[in-house]
Amino acid sequence: MRLRPVALPNLPWGTPAPVDLYMLQEKELSLLFRSQQSLSPESYGEICKQSDRLYYDRDAQVNWQSLVDSNLTSILQTPLATEAKAAVAYGSAARKTQEIFQEFNEAGYAQAEDTVLALNNLMDEPNALESFFQLTIHDYYTYTHSVHVYLYSMLLTRAVIGGDNTAFLKDLGVGYLLHDIGKKDISTDILNKKGKLNDEEWAIIKKHPLVGYDLLVKISGKISEEVAQIVLQHHEKCDGNGYPRNLKESEIGRYGKICAVADVYDALTTRRSYKEALSKMAAFTIMQDSKGHFDHQLLARFIRLAVPFAE
Ligand SMILES: [Fe+2]
Repeated sequence: MRLRPVALPNLPWGTPAPVDLYMLQEKELSLLFRSQQSLSPESYGEICKQSDRLYYDRDAQVNWQSLVDSNLTSILQTPLATEAKAAVAYGSAARKTQEIFQEFNEAGYAQAEDTVLALNNLMDEPNALESFFQLTIHDYYTYTHSVHVYLYSMLLTRAVIGGDNTAFLKDLGVGYLLHDIGKKDISTDILNKKGKLNDEEWAIIKKHPLVGYDLLVKISGKISEEVAQIVLQHHEKCDGNGYPRNLKESEIGRYGKICAVADVYDALTTRRSYKEALSKMAAFTIMQDSKGHFDHQLLARFIRLAVPFAE
């Protein structure tokens, strides 16, 4: 039998195995789960100590990612370790966001809502945030950036308003996850340009908050005041030098300000085609020195929250 590996977080834990799954150790193959046997979440910790992957017959056609994506809510309700759940949820959220950026429609919006609900629930578990922080990758992609901005914004939002209002937090979470949806049709030549943007390119970039707002209204049919704030205001600066409307501090909503902190923090701590990733502490210093950009109370709160998490 020719084998193909599947990483542990890509298995649909708590549901039946779609094929026989094997462990490979020192060239010894052992059958761990028979096809249709439940992938018991309790066994994850034990398996994890021995390997980060299992193997299956490469002739079997299995789309592991779509199995995980369609079972995400139930997987996250299993007694799987929090770190494992965070890994599953992070991967699934990134994939769904990628799909949404490729084609944004009503089904995609509903998927974003489901993903955010699942992620928000997970945040109630102890150590979930720490696990998420460890997963954030340092290469920049629009879709992982979206998940990171959701994560950092939600960390700060929950510290400011608490974690109880499920429906409101879901709404905000969708706003954070889709804050850059207005960039979906901007060419990567402009998004990843190494040199300075020319006037025409810069004008295109500056439109993305408004384009995103229009798209969300068109697709979801309605949009709350707070979600509008997030999408429209995440590039506004407290000193009035932001875009698209040069709003002043008192005119920018709390959630737009939160998203601005999260957005810049992730931009600084990830690698782009034109720059290296900065360390967390270096990013904090730059942000604190950017006088007039951020709401300083929200920035100070974010730094206090993020400092304890490992790089
Ligand atoms: Fe943006």
